[in-house]
Amino acid sequence: MLYGANDIVLPSGRPLVDLDVMRTLARQAREHAYAPYSRFKVGACLLSAATGRMYTGCNVENSSYGATVCAERNAILHAIAEEGVVGVEALVVVSDDDPPAPPCALCLQVLAEFSRPDTRVILFSVDGKCVEYSFAELLPNPFIFPTMRQ
Ligand code: THU
Repeated sequence: MLYGANDIVLPSGRPLVDLDVMRTLARQAREHAYAPYSRFKVGACLLSAATGRMYTGCNVENSSYGATVCAERNAILHAIAEEGVVGVEALVVVSDDDPPAPPCALCLQVLAEFSRPDTRVILFSVDGKCVEYSFAELLPNPFIFPTMRQ
């Protein structure tokens, strides 16, 4: 079951989640974060369910604070730009926080459109602490447009 984007067809086999690779890519993306205001750098790496391809994102802040884009939304937008509508198999986020920071509510709502309740969300701190949630644990009741409900 997908929360939204209900024309996604999942392959019979799911891609393997290589946490080491995803964490490395998220850490590298975090190095590219543009965060001169908060100094809080975040990196993300998302795994496409249909293709097994991985897409990264970092936070990009702006003088007009509300224009800031979080790492997680950057990653999902990056994925869609590259391969069209995607289903998210797994998302890795790296931040310098303890416990490791989860995606904000706005990012969860955006991700819900392309995620399943059992999509894996794995959070790392830069010093290696790790916490894992299912998507539904982080956002049990996303808003879903009526015509997109299954
Ligand atoms: N940030 C993210 O990139 N992801 C989140 O889920 C939480 C917050 C960024 C936005 C902003 O650049 C900085 O962290 C502080 O809020």
